[in-house]
Amino acid sequence: MTLRNKKIILAITGSIAAYKAALIVRGLIKAGAEVQVIMTAAATDFISPLTLSTLSKRPVYSSARGEDDWNNHVELGLWADAMLIAPITANTLAKLANGHCEDMVGAVYLSARCPVWFAPAMDLDMWAHPATQANVAKLQSYGNHLIDVADGELASGLSGAGRLAEPEEIIAVLESHFGHETDLAGKKVLVTAGPTYEALDPVRFIGNHSSGTMGVEVAMAAARRGAEVELVLGPSRLKPVHPKLNVTHVISAREMYAVCTNRWPATDIAVMAAAVADYRPATVAEEKIKKKGGADESFSLELVRNPDIAATLGADKRKGQLLIGFAMETENGPANARRKLVDKNLDAIVLNSIREEGAGFGEGTNKVAIITADRERKYSVKPKTAVAKDILDVVVELQA
Ligand code: CTP
Repeated sequence: MTLRNKKIILAITGSIAAYKAALIVRGLIKAGAEVQVIMTAAATDFISPLTLSTLSKRPVYSSARGEDDWNNHVELGLWADAMLIAPITANTLAKLANGHCEDMVGAVYLSARCPVWFAPAMDLDMWAHPATQANVAKLQSYGNHLIDVADGELASGLSGAGRLAEPEEIIAVLESHFGHETDLAGKKVLVTAGPTYEALDPVRFIGNHSSGTMGVEVAMAAARRGAEVELVLGPSRLKPVHPKLNVTHVISAREMYAVCTNRWPATDIAVMAAAVADYRPATVAEEKIKKKGGADESFSLELVRNPDIAATLGADKRKGQLLIGFAMETENGPANARRKLVDKNLDAIVLNSIREEGAGFGEGTNKVAIITADRERKYSVKPKTAVAKDILDVVVELQA
């Protein structure tokens, strides 16, 4: 009952993803919360207020038509411990960014004194549009918290960024806010995340598909649990914000190495979630490399090894410091992960097998095993937010 007696307003707006709101209500209620659902008129076309009032055991306010409904907005704004807008459409994002309040959702939003989370859902081009991105940034500048969209199949049939985060993930975000776990208070945590880009010439690089999500989730979860977090982030579209989080942006493995080795002596716990390029081009051309011969010409690239950040930190590890690595394997996962655990002097290694459904790059979910010297803990497929919690639970256990 992680949300016991928490009063949560769930505002639902008119997206096809609104059907998932039923699962959000059920999850919040199961976690012990009191849930008041409000909806825009458009949302009622996608999911019935009757479904939501039955699940939440409260009347649903779906418009500002009734006088009672309308008067409720200030009261509701003061009543709530949290407001969650899920799904939020591009249209409602635009309205809230500009303070429009001609409906119940806008009026309650302006009246709410509690923290606000918003989970967008829309088609990929609507999500990518600069107007939408500017509206998201505006809400964040008001102190509201984004629950980022997931990548995947969209209702339009297109595939890309724009899916509503999974209900389980949305609930985990609220749980970790209200959980008041401060078991990492006073700890200095270093996290690497994202890919690295290794330049070839001024316009080309060698990179990989890492989105940075897993490491960012670990960094955010550690900050919520009271740690001072240094996140060293390779090129990523993610922009995590938390008062206890400092983000250093880097491009290449060597830049990441320089920041990490500098911070390591003052670090208690390091989590190496970045997908660091093992090799970089031996030389970086100053000018763009031009093609030379005809269609049958070939081109080879000489690569040299990058420093191994995790292994370097492992070699310099003092008593009391914890070092957690990741292993992404396509075969012989546990054996390879165990070898890396020993070779890099890690205290735990998080193994993801990219052959498993629901695991790996770009997915909102992951399926991992956490291997320590004496144990292998296996977990089911779950949202990366929940995986981050499992990793930090193991860290806390190892510290004890
Ligand atoms: N890592 C690192 N610096 C590198 C390479 C990897 O810090 N130059 C870290 C990763 O962040 C991860 C762990 O080491 O925590 C394992 O990375 P992985 O790429 O799976 O293993 P490698 O040791 O590079 O082995 P291989 O690519 O041969 O599987």
